[in-house]
Amino acid sequence: MNFSTGKSVSVGETEILNYLPEIGMDRVREEIIRSLSARPPMIPAKFFYDERGSELFEEITGLEEYYPTRTEKRILASSGELAELPWHDLHIVELGSGDASKISLLLDHIPEKERKSVKYFPVDISQSAIGRSAEVLKKRFPEMQITGIVIDYFHQLGRIPVQGRKLICFFGSTIGNFDPREREQFMRMLGEIMRPGDLLLLGLDMVKEKEVLEKAYNDRQGVTAAFNKNILHVVNRLAGTQLNPDDFEHVAFFNEQERRIEMHLRAVREVTVRFGGKNTEVKIPAGETIHTENSYKFNRDDIRQNGCWAGLELRKVFTDEKGWFSLAWYAK
Ligand code: AVJ
Repeated sequence: MNFSTGKSVSVGETEILNYLPEIGMDRVREEIIRSLSARPPMIPAKFFYDERGSELFEEITGLEEYYPTRTEKRILASSGELAELPWHDLHIVELGSGDASKISLLLDHIPEKERKSVKYFPVDISQSAIGRSAEVLKKRFPEMQITGIVIDYFHQLGRIPVQGRKLICFFGSTIGNFDPREREQFMRMLGEIMRPGDLLLLGLDMVKEKEVLEKAYNDRQGVTAAFNKNILHVVNRLAGTQLNPDDFEHVAFFNEQERRIEMHLRAVREVTVRFGGKNTEVKIPAGETIHTENSYKFNRDDIRQNGCWAGLELRKVFTDEKGWFSLAWYAK
């Protein structure tokens, strides 16, 4: 995550357009101060993904306990019907692209003769993640044109190029980071940037037994704990604070009422957060938590509702044998 670099950079043959600087450091700092000063305090989950955070997340996706990535990949690899999408000249826009592994599985379904006509637009808040994944993809699909787009996709969705027929991919159940109101707003915005004929593939982690869910966010190796604490380094860098990860412990549980995993950082002693400047100081009492992430879990009604909000028709839901994860395919 880099809010202050220039607009366009090239990584090998790949052009990356970075629109994050539009948001400006002042607004980023303000957002962090506002969030940490709220009662209870929170930090928006998008701030997990600096270079180290993206690395730790990738490590999470390989953990035994963390089933979503592996399950979604299995669904992607085994859904042969994907070969029949109207691939010719399609612009694939992947939101929250992270590493390149999921899109590779999708690209594998494209019939040989259509491969050259497809363009790929990875969209992520992390420029380094886009750069790395573009390099990997260029090796496997050298003929494919790639243009990376660095945005905060909740606030800058309009920056995504709209010419051409689009397949928007939003894998990983990242939409689960939005609360229901934000999700509705996001789906409406998605609907607005889509035109008749455009498609959407949306990955959704489904409600399941609490034990399975909670294990996935409390791995034995403590990678998720490290990922959670890393957000404090990001905040320190962006807002000039001096939060110490050792003052906090990782907490993650399933909130059944809200149907979401909540991640928090619980202060093990009283912590004073100083933002610099005047009257900008917040005290977090021992035992209080900073809410760092919601990861909502979904059911069939939610899948339908998403489509309604965006004005999309639900074409098909691909899932695994346990019904743990769904890949919903919508069309405008
Ligand atoms: C990237 C938001 C889908 O919610 O499962 C993984 C992030 N947080 N472990 C998720 C995450 C802790 C992940 N998403």
